Amino acid sequence: MMNWIKILSLEQIEQHVMVNKPVSILLNQTPLAIVWDGNTYFAFKNVCPHNKARLSDGKLNAFGEIICPWHEYRYSIKTGRECANRTADLATFTIEKRADGLYLFI
Ligand code: FES
Repeated sequence: MMNWIKILSLEQIEQHVMVNKPVSILLNQTPLAIVWDGNTYFAFKNVCPHNKARLSDGKLNAFGEIICPWHEYRYSIKTGRECANRTADLATFTIEKRADGLYLFI
C-alpha cells in the first residue's frame, strides 16, 4: 500500500538540498534521489535502468534531465523517460514540500 512518508525535515532540506544538486536518500532499503530545481522538487529511483549506476552522481542539464555518470543516458526527472528511448524509463515518485518538511508518496 502506498503512503506519504516524511523523508526530510525543514532543517535537513536547508542543510542538504541545493539547486540542481541531486541528493541521495535510502528509504527502507530503496535508493532514491531528490532534486530541487529552485522551484519544484523531484524524486526518482537512484539506480540507472541501463546498468545500475548511481544517478545522484550524475549531473542535471538545463532541460531537466539527469545525466547518468556511466554512459550518459539522459532521463527526464519529471517523467523518467530516457531521452532517446535507449532503455526502460526511470521510476519517478510524487514528492511534496509541506510546512514541516519533504514528503514522498511511495
Ligand atoms: S549505467 Fe547509466 S547509462 Fe549506462
